[in-house]
Amino acid sequence: MEANYPKYVLYGLLIVGSWLLSCLLHFQVFHLSLFPYPSYLLSRRIVLPPALDASFLPPPPDDAVERRRSSAKAEAASSCDGRYVYMLEVPLRFQMLTECVEGSPAFEDPYHVCVLMSNYGLGPVIPPAAGNGSDGDIIPNTGWYNTDQYALEVIFHNRMRRYECLTGDLAAATAVYVPFYPALELNRHKCGGSATARNEPSKEFLRWLSSQPSWAALGGRDHFMVAARTTWMFRRDEAGDALGCGNGFLVQPESGNMTVLTYESNIWERRDFAVPYPSYFHPSSAGEVAAWQARARAARRPWLFAFAGARRANGTLAIRDHIIDECTASPPGRCGMLDCSHGLEGSITCRSPRRLVALFASTRFCLQPPGDSFMRRSSIDTVLAGCIPVFFHEASTFKKQYRWHERDDNTATTTGATDHRRYSVLIDPDDVVEGRVRIEEVLSRFTDDEVAAMREEVIKMIPRFVYKDSRVRFDGDMRDAFDITFKEVMARMRRIKNGEILGWKQDGDDDVVAKDS
Ligand SMILES: *[C@@H]1O[C@H](CO)[C@@H](O)[C@H](O)[C@H]1NC(C)=O
Ligand SMILES: *[C@@H]1O[C@H](CO)[C@@H](O)[C@H](O)[C@H]1NC(C)=O
Ligand SMILES: *[C@@H]1O[C@H](CO)[C@@H](O)[C@H](O)[C@H]1NC(C)=O
Repeated sequence: MEANYPKYVLYGLLIVGSWLLSCLLHFQVFHLSLFPYPSYLLSRRIVLPPALDASFLPPPPDDAVERRRSSAKAEAASSCDGRYVYMLEVPLRFQMLTECVEGSPAFEDPYHVCVLMSNYGLGPVIPPAAGNGSDGDIIPNTGWYNTDQYALEVIFHNRMRRYECLTGDLAAATAVYVPFYPALELNRHKCGGSATARNEPSKEFLRWLSSQPSWAALGGRDHFMVAARTTWMFRRDEAGDALGCGNGFLVQPESGNMTVLTYESNIWERRDFAVPYPSYFHPSSAGEVAAWQARARAARRPWLFAFAGARRANGTLAIRDHIIDECTASPPGRCGMLDCSHGLEGSITCRSPRRLVALFASTRFCLQPPGDSFMRRSSIDTVLAGCIPVFFHEASTFKKQYRWHERDDNTATTTGATDHRRYSVLIDPDDVVEGRVRIEEVLSRFTDDEVAAMREEVIKMIPRFVYKDSRVRFDGDMRDAFDITFKEVMARMRRIKNGEILGWKQDGDDDVVAKDS
């Protein structure tokens, strides 16, 4: 902790700087329509996202209805014991997708939230490859979507709507799910605008929430929700943040009582739980996953290492400059790169899942230096492609961020040995920046067998890092990122319901302890 502190402050500064940059890019590049929209984004297969108001809700999933009808009432009741969830109904004024109704002009802008959140949050279908293979044709024609990285709020909500133990009876519920979308709310505000404008709507929501009957019993401690960005974005002080993009949603006392899921928690001072970003693959069957794993396993991987990303302005992220320089200077065939630095072209290139996945699936090690934050969505894309992640900070590792998902519960307990199989590489960025190590040298020290063993671990992680297609009943037995998260959240909710007061450990190595232990 002591040793980390200066770095933590430095990274904090860098993060603020890069937020600013990415916000500027976001608004200038994607909202000014400087280029013709790629036609694939205007795919005809867009399905309207569900509106949240009950009157617009699509009929409940047929299999859920069927299960409720066909199974004996008593049986259903007992299997739901201790698992009932009450889903709050969020008033229209706090809903983020109300304009996304059929015929809305919003659907003509491919970067409009209605398009990004289409297909129940999965996003537009990735159309078949163009034909001459230049973009890589590794991506199968079903199950893959151009998923927006902020989509987890919508994906999670739609999974909850299919949950078999929803109840309208608050007294019977173990937990209360809050389907408010703080990241989509925050995305409505321009960076650098007034901090009050960024803070007020979510504060108003919290005032409403804490006035609901569900809140009273436990002061909201039995409530859970998703905030689909990193914790840093929601922990901004109001003062002095006139140039920033974030807000203070998670520093409000109400959110402090809830169990909130973000993409990255502060490992030095945990106050929320990190869960994986959604990537591009949303399978509807276990067979589809196994087929993709086989494809990732069989992929020819000529590149030793690869990087997809951009430099930061004026060398504000030295490790990135070093990575890009080393990649460019390495012998032909060693390092693959998707350079996102060059303005519009770079942004478009890097928004193409096809090129990204094709690169990562032909590479042995994928470099994941910190960017706008420690944990990047790219790290999940890496797992998906069966590429061994290389981290440059402990706060970027799955061990620190995604411990629920990192290990397979079912095998970890049998023997200690299986629990510590290596699947990633951690390189000290100072060693790289100060010239003590070369990335290529570190990575080429691993033997082919070691690489194959690590890759196999990564490929085995794929099911735990994907989000199933939330529109259909999943065919087969597989726990995905949602299932794992939900199980952990419910275990926590049961402890809270049983009267435990859960606090946070100072060193952050474990998420929670009973406050009196
Ligand atoms: C094939 O890919 C190359 C490289 O991107 C591109 O320049 C070319 O136009 C493509 N050819 C056809 C026939 O689509
Ligand atoms: C948070 O929970 C505690 C304990 O239940 C409660 O006393 C407090 O009022 C809650 N805070 C808010 C803002 O509701
Ligand atoms: C980069 O540095 C130059 C010269 O110090 C300065 O004029 C420019 O504003 C800086 N750009 C950014 C984006 O910080």
